[in-house]
Amino acid sequence: MQGVVNVDDLRELAKKRLPKVVFDFIEGGTDDEVGLITNARAFRQMRIVPRYLIDISVRDQSTKLFGRTYSSPVGIAPTGPAGLCRRGADMMLAEAARDANVPFIMSGVSSSTIEDLGKLAPDHGWYQIYSAVDPSISEDMIKRVGDAGLKTLVFTVDVPVGSNRERSIRRGWGAQLKLTWKTKFEALCHPAWMMEWLQHGRPYLDNWTRYAGPNASAKKVADFVWSQFPAPMTWQHVERYRELWKGNFVLKGIMHPDDALRAHSIGIDGIIVSNHGGRQLDNTPSPLEVLPTICHALGDRMPVMLDGGVRRGLHVLIAFCMGAKFVFQGRPTLYGVTAGGIAGAAKALAIFRREIDISMAQIGATRLVDLSPQFLMRKEAVMPRRGS
Ligand SMILES: Cc1cc2nc3c(=O)[nH]c(=O)nc-3n(C[C@H](O)[C@H](O)[C@H](O)COP(=O)(O)O)c2cc1C
Repeated sequence: MQGVVNVDDLRELAKKRLPKVVFDFIEGGTDDEVGLITNARAFRQMRIVPRYLIDISVRDQSTKLFGRTYSSPVGIAPTGPAGLCRRGADMMLAEAARDANVPFIMSGVSSSTIEDLGKLAPDHGWYQIYSAVDPSISEDMIKRVGDAGLKTLVFTVDVPVGSNRERSIRRGWGAQLKLTWKTKFEALCHPAWMMEWLQHGRPYLDNWTRYAGPNASAKKVADFVWSQFPAPMTWQHVERYRELWKGNFVLKGIMHPDDALRAHSIGIDGIIVSNHGGRQLDNTPSPLEVLPTICHALGDRMPVMLDGGVRRGLHVLIAFCMGAKFVFQGRPTLYGVTAGGIAGAAKALAIFRREIDISMAQIGATRLVDLSPQFLMRKEAVMPRRGS
């Protein structure tokens, strides 16, 4: 990956490889896309105050989560259409995560199977579900996750209905990708992507083929999947899944401290504070903005994780200073895998790792547990008090 220095370089390469209709789908937000700006701005507005004259010669960014030690505090969030960006991308992401010893969350609408993930990365693969209209499908998937040897289930709660993604609507992407003559013509300018499409056609949403009826085509499977969403999702569903799933159970998309407390009260093991990368409801606060209130409400009761707008190692440290115990990112590794397969995904993770290491040294923290709000200052705030 010559010439790639940061996540933005990977983004540029991904943009070159993908037809506009696909790139805009992964890049876009909802409504006026305020969420994309808010997520990025929240990190930019923080100021970090370094401490010097500390021995930083040995630095350790390993992080313990659910009894397992990961080498770095940044995992891969679920991104449904990875297989549309590059064939086999879900498993490439899983492999890169396994090799970097960080978690990878496979999306509930991925193009590879729970079973393949269990074979490739049983210790690093987590699986994300959405509720399906037919509850027996969700329940069967939960069973499959356990049978495959995976230990962590993530239930995404912030998709009560599909969202208003105007960028994609304008490009002719309804519930799923449809190649019109116009988009096909544009795709010809991205031959590597187009070759994959011509060779393999539409990617199968492989976890769902068994529910879609015998010999269903990729299109039929996709139609079946979209007939299962949106499905009713309530706390009763969470309780039901909790009963069925004995492993670590994480809710993704929690943005309110009362929801976090309720999750804890019914036996949830962790939450990911997230606004779906600005793709569901516009004008929410950024996850970083609500993080301190949620951490304050929960105390040490369960780990609070975060995703949304994380593009730099320093962003990871800021989230840790504000109480996060782990951080995920979605688009950066998606850019990476699109641009360069496993090597590209690995590059994105390596960029985060390197930036975290440098930033830890710069601010005078040798372990992530040393990070606290005392390193932080909001742009408009005054310097920390003496003695703090
Ligand atoms: C293209 C794309 C597809 C996504 N698909 C899913 C999904 O299937 N399930 C899910 O829970 N979240 C999904 N998300 C949200 C991500 O898991 C994550 O919350 C978000 O990407 C974090 O923001 P970031 O991209 O700024 O890092 C998706 C995000 C993107 C960009």
